[in-house]
This record gives sequence, structure tokens and C-alpha cells, in this order.
Amino acid sequence: MDVMILPVFLIVFIAATASPAVLSAECPQRFPKEMRPLSSCCTVEMNPNSSYNYTEGDPIINKCFGDFNSSATRPTGPPSGYDCELECLMIEFGYMGKDKTINKDKIVKSIEDEYSADFQEAGHKAIEICMGRKYHTSCPSGIDGMIECFAVQMMLNCPAKHWSGGEDCKETKQLIDKCGEVLSIFADYDTD
Ligand SMILES: *[C@@H]1O[C@H](CO)[C@@H](O)[C@H](O)[C@H]1NC(C)=O
Ligand SMILES: *[C@@H]1O[C@H](CO)[C@@H](O)[C@H](O)[C@H]1NC(C)=O
Ligand SMILES: *[C@@H]1O[C@H](CO)[C@@H](O)[C@H](O)[C@H]1NC(C)=O
Repeated sequence: MDVMILPVFLIVFIAATASPAVLSAECPQRFPKEMRPLSSCCTVEMNPNSSYNYTEGDPIINKCFGDFNSSATRPTGPPSGYDCELECLMIEFGYMGKDKTINKDKIVKSIEDEYSADFQEAGHKAIEICMGRKYHTSCPSGIDGMIECFAVQMMLNCPAKHWSGGEDCKETKQLIDKCGEVLSIFADYDTD
């Protein structure tokens, strides 16, 4: 698994293994390598005046993912007490309780703080869509699925001025609109 960081409700972690395993005859099982990745079609813009504090955030990221600077030394598996790395992250940042209840208000506040004005509509929409779904992903709480859903919905609802246009991006969007539920959307980041 490779991990890409954007400071999306803090951070969007691209969990390549998180895709739901349901298959459909009309949809490919994996995101086709020859297609342009969705993440390169939308340039997500952050709020330059965000109050996110890296001094506080970095140790949490390191705790949950190991030494982030070095994928070579990053340990595999979550720290003890957590079912997966993303759950560790969400709980440590207070977006999720120890009882696995998601703190929606806090997530919404983070979106409002961390994304630019252009992305507020997409962010609010994404969190409504993604919190309304159930996930059968590698983390039992489904939080990895929720976060992947959020990242995808943000980009599917990309404001026109931040969308790179082009036929290849149009094709990617169509495929994900139709097959997103069954695709490993971020397979293009999978370095395994
Ligand atoms: C960020 O804050 C600066 C200084 O207060 C302000 O001039 C600027 O307009 C703000 N930028 C945004 C995108 O809110
Ligand atoms: C960030 O958090 C640290 C540790 O709590 C604190 O010392 C520092 O003042 C904070 N920085 C900002 C810009 O708020
Ligand atoms: C992190 O990576 C950078 C670039 O490779 C390196 O210069 C730096 O020393 C590393 N820091 C740590 C704490 O390993």
C-alpha cells in the first residue's frame, strides 16, 4: 500500500486495498492502468489560512503509520489497540470515538477550516454521501472505505475551474460514476 497525503480533513490516505470486493459484469475489477487517475483530474485546493497545526498532527501521523518519512522503515500493520492505521488516525485526531462513533460535527468543521472556499460545496456533499454508506473494507469499522469515498466524491464534485478537463478525465469520471463502488480506484497508487 502506498500512502498519499493531502491535508484533507486532514489527510486523504489512499488505501489501495480498501475497495469493496463486489464485482459486476460491466465493471472492471481494478481501475484500468491505461486510464488517467481521477486524482490527476482535479486539483484539490486547500485553505492557506487553515488552523491545522503540524506540530500537533505530525506525531499522530507517525504514531499511526510509523515513520512517515521513510516507506522503507514503515512498519506494516496498525499500532496495538487499533484495527487499522486509518482508524488510529481518526481516533487520535478526535474524528472518531473509541467506540467507533464518527464525530461528524468535527469532521465538517475541519473541512470548513482546511479546504478553500471553492471546495466547500464538494466537501459538504461528499461527507453526506459517504457517511450514509456502509463499507465492507479491510478495516472492520469501515472507516477506510469512508475516507476513500470522501476523497473520490470530492474529486467527482470538483468545481469546473479546478478540473483539468480533457477527454481522458471525462472517461475516468464516467467510469467511476458508474463503477466506483466496485473499483479499486486508487490502484494506480498501489506500489505493491
Ligand atoms: C488568508 O489570510 C490573509 C491574511 O489575513 C488574507 O489576506 C487572505 O485573504 C486569506 N486568504 C484566504 C484564501 O482566505
Ligand atoms: C501548535 O501546537 C503546539 C503544541 O501544542 C503549540 O505549542 C503551538 O503554539 C501551536 N502552533 C500554532 C501556530 O498554533
Ligand atoms: C526525511 O527525508 C528527507 C529527504 O529524504 C531527509 O533529508 C531527512 O533527513 C529525513 N528525516 C528523517 C527524520 O529521517
